Amino acid sequence: TPYKVAVLVGSLRDASLNRKLAKALVALAPEGLEFEFLPIGELQFYNQDLEDKGAPACWKAFREAIADVDAVLFVTPEYNRSVPAALKNALDVGSRPMGESVWDGKPAGVVTGSPGAIGGFGANHALRQSLVFLNMPAMQQPEAYVGGIGDMFADDGSVKDAGTKKFLAGFMESFAQWIARHAGR
Ligand code: FNR
Repeated sequence: TPYKVAVLVGSLRDASLNRKLAKALVALAPEGLEFEFLPIGELQFYNQDLEDKGAPACWKAFREAIADVDAVLFVTPEYNRSVPAALKNALDVGSRPMGESVWDGKPAGVVTGSPGAIGGFGANHALRQSLVFLNMPAMQQPEAYVGGIGDMFADDGSVKDAGTKKFLAGFMESFAQWIARHAGR
């Protein structure tokens, strides 16, 4: 049976370039992986008072969805050299109640995309810092700091440059191997 991979996109906007990047990565992935895009924009901000009253339905559904997958692919922009608040909130929501984190042990892939030249390096590593604490084995190599995403895609969403396409396909090939090694089945 294929490995189930949740895709979390750090941008909430409809025209998100990072969502296009995530779709391109999914399209270039090898056999044996099944992807599900999980929305994070409607998750209430984490607040332990809500937990104590019996977590909101949106948190419960999100936690169940993450618990159900074998791995997580993060594709995100960089906001002010760090992780967008919506994505950080999703990490926080999934990490609680204490001792019941749904992230624990799940292999992760991290891709950051930016129209700028630095490719979201700051966000990539800020995210990795949380993943260390959440005990998610995050693939170290290849790294993916994808710069210049502003003119990377054709109208049909495909990646225009052959070299970039090859790089992204190689990333997904490595990620598939990483999942097989770390998914624990
Ligand atoms: C940005 N942007 C940005 N880009 C970058 O490379 N480094 C950064 O630190 C920031 N900071 C930042 C903060 C905020 C609040 C916004 C809204 C944007 C620009 C960002 O990369 C650009 O808007 C991307 O297009 C956002 O990704 P999506 O929405 O296209 O996926």
